[in-house]
Amino acid sequence: MNEILRVENLKKHFTKKGFFGSKSNTVKAADGVSFYLNEGEVFVIAGESGSGKTTIAKLILKSIQLDSGKIFFEQEEIGNEQAKIKKIRMNCQMIHQDPYDSINPRMRIGDIVSEPLEIHKIGNKNERKKRTIDVLHEVKLEPAEEISKKYPHMLSGGQRQRVVLARALSLKPKIIIADEPVSMLDVSIRAEMLELMQELQKKYNISFLYITHDLATARYFGQRIGILYLGKIVETGPINQVLLNPKHPYTQALIDAISEPDPENLYREKKIRINEPSDVDVNQGCRFRARCPYVIEKCVEEPELEEIEDGHYSACHVKLDLT
Ligand SMILES: Nc1ncnc2c1ncn2[C@@H]1O[C@H](COP(=O)(O)OP(=O)(O)O)[C@@H](O)[C@H]1O
Ligand SMILES: [Mg+2]
Repeated sequence: MNEILRVENLKKHFTKKGFFGSKSNTVKAADGVSFYLNEGEVFVIAGESGSGKTTIAKLILKSIQLDSGKIFFEQEEIGNEQAKIKKIRMNCQMIHQDPYDSINPRMRIGDIVSEPLEIHKIGNKNERKKRTIDVLHEVKLEPAEEISKKYPHMLSGGQRQRVVLARALSLKPKIIIADEPVSMLDVSIRAEMLELMQELQKKYNISFLYITHDLATARYFGQRIGILYLGKIVETGPINQVLLNPKHPYTQALIDAISEPDPENLYREKKIRINEPSDVDVNQGCRFRARCPYVIEKCVEEPELEEIEDGHYSACHVKLDLT
């Protein structure tokens, strides 16, 4: 399988100014993130809110600057040259969590969908119009001609997110980064949207970076996964191996949080909660140790990702059999 995207050791730290004389602090939104995405594959980045998921997406699309690290698209490093930035932005489209982030309420649907074609000067007016109607059909917004003349407020939330998907598809991207694409939608229409994304992903062999905090949709859609905790991937591998045989206590805690109540799980979850508020310095050693029920002395040293089974890596000093 060909690798289409690779990121190596991405770092992005933000400094938050303290209020009223309190100390400013540094947030390590991305703190050495590495992963790859193969052609036609869905790689999931899963983690809680604030773990750095959106930051990674923005770094890849060069909408924010890296502190350090490398990004490769089709084996070619994407630095700060305009031509390279343009190349990644043409080939890699983003779907935001909130459709309002990416659609202008004062533009007609047709113009919203064709805008990327105009920005990148693809085709003439008629060709752009045809492409716009074609992608509206693709995302099943019917009747497409009629929909193209409407304004965003005339559509439902689910329809608006389809417009966002149509817009992302308009340039025939090789990669789509979908940043929590269904989390703002009504539960009843989430499955539909995911099915549609999966159908189009397969039909056009699009590589997806699927960003979510929801492991159930991750398992439905993804082939491999990286579990992100405070700016670092703590476990990664084929999705079934990671979710059915988790090796990192944090992955286990995430799974417990969604699984059936079971006394054993409750016990483990409680232990993790008890360990939560803490003055442990997460800038050193294992960043999960403040919440980890299995913490040992060695955890003051930062654990690196280690291969446990074929393609399955975990960054944890405690070699637990968690299943
Ligand atoms: N522009 C910014 N300035 C300061 N802090 C930021 C900025 N963007 C993100 N952060 C912080 O970085 C961390 C990761 O944020 P984000 O990537 O949005 O996480 P996620 O998408 O997983 O919820 C959070 O603590 C967030 O507050
Ligand atoms: Mg986010």
